[in-house]
Amino acid sequence: MDVSLIRKDFPTIKAGGSVYLDSACQTLRPLSVIEAITSYYTDFPACGGRSVHSMATKVSMEVDSARETAASFFGCKDARSFIFTKNCTEGMNIVAKGFGLRKGDAVLTTDMEHNSNHVQWVEMAKDTGIKRKITKTSVEGVFDIEDFKRQMTNDVKLVSMAHTSNVTGSSIPVKEITEIAHDKGAAVLIDGAQAAPHTPVDLKGLDVDFYSVSVHKMLGPSGMGMLYGKEERLKKLRPLIYGGGTVGLATYDSVKLTGHPEKFEAGLMDYAGVIGTAAALRYLSKIGMKNIESHEEGLQRLIDRELSDVSSLSTVGPPERRGIFSFNIAGMSSHDIAMMLDNADNVMIRSGMHCAHPFFVSRNMNGCARASFHIYNDEGDILRFTNAVRKLAATFSK
Ligand code: ALA
Repeated sequence: MDVSLIRKDFPTIKAGGSVYLDSACQTLRPLSVIEAITSYYTDFPACGGRSVHSMATKVSMEVDSARETAASFFGCKDARSFIFTKNCTEGMNIVAKGFGLRKGDAVLTTDMEHNSNHVQWVEMAKDTGIKRKITKTSVEGVFDIEDFKRQMTNDVKLVSMAHTSNVTGSSIPVKEITEIAHDKGAAVLIDGAQAAPHTPVDLKGLDVDFYSVSVHKMLGPSGMGMLYGKEERLKKLRPLIYGGGTVGLATYDSVKLTGHPEKFEAGLMDYAGVIGTAAALRYLSKIGMKNIESHEEGLQRLIDRELSDVSSLSTVGPPERRGIFSFNIAGMSSHDIAMMLDNADNVMIRSGMHCAHPFFVSRNMNGCARASFHIYNDEGDILRFTNAVRKLAATFSK
């Protein structure tokens, strides 16, 4: 794998000048994804699944083919287990609202969830009387399997957790968690937003019931996500949104819902997004997720090595991290760090609480700066970042 060649596929990198280290928020896109999106608007900008003319038929076929691509990417046979959503958050909400949790049923999360797997549970607890249980991680954010087992009481009907934290980059043992949850009769919903872009995810092997991802973190279009569900789960899951495309026949007084995935995809879809999604998954597969993972591990080691002697710098998260380096510099706010890196060195990172407020509030922290990377980042990018951070720390830290 030659990263210098891969970098040529990304127009933003070819333009030069900046270093983009905000891939946990959104990745850059390769030309093949941009061209796939453009080809829809240029060549066949019609509606899928409805009209029968040739342009529309092409769209329907592209949507079917994108589902096949998703299934093969995630090691599944059944393409119809994949629902196109607008992001990971939507997938998480579809399951939360449609699973059929009742008063007294409990959902079990960790204490380091993104708001996409937190806010709906707080609201549903108020509205429907479901219970929330939270398994505690260490201060650094390391999953505690013993605490998880203790929390796995009989009232837990759904375990809903992030595969990899978007703050610390630490991961949870999904397979082990799923086995324990299934033994207790609970289903498992995984927020894969920060794992699927960086590591091979074999959904059959993991045996999870639901898995939600954001495609814009996987080199794909903005505003695209996917939700995977096991067939028997999707049959029982209620849609979040109703409308055209979700019904076989509707009369004035009755509706007959279609099966999955269509019953979850109400209204006209983002066809360019679906087609761009397939192009992104093909691109990732061509490079190979294992190669992506080991490249990112190398970058991670380089950052650790370069910044280990900066005494005013503290990392957020354990040493084993995936694609993310979160940190603070004593005496500086995370937003100041991010703005100064951008203004002075053209290095773009994210700062603040990263939509994972409870993690920071429970640890008495105001947030952190976060550099996150992907296959298109090279050692030069990392050294520009670490040199800029060293300079900042030397100049401003107390
Ligand atoms: N979840 C995205 C992030 O961590 C927005 O930046």
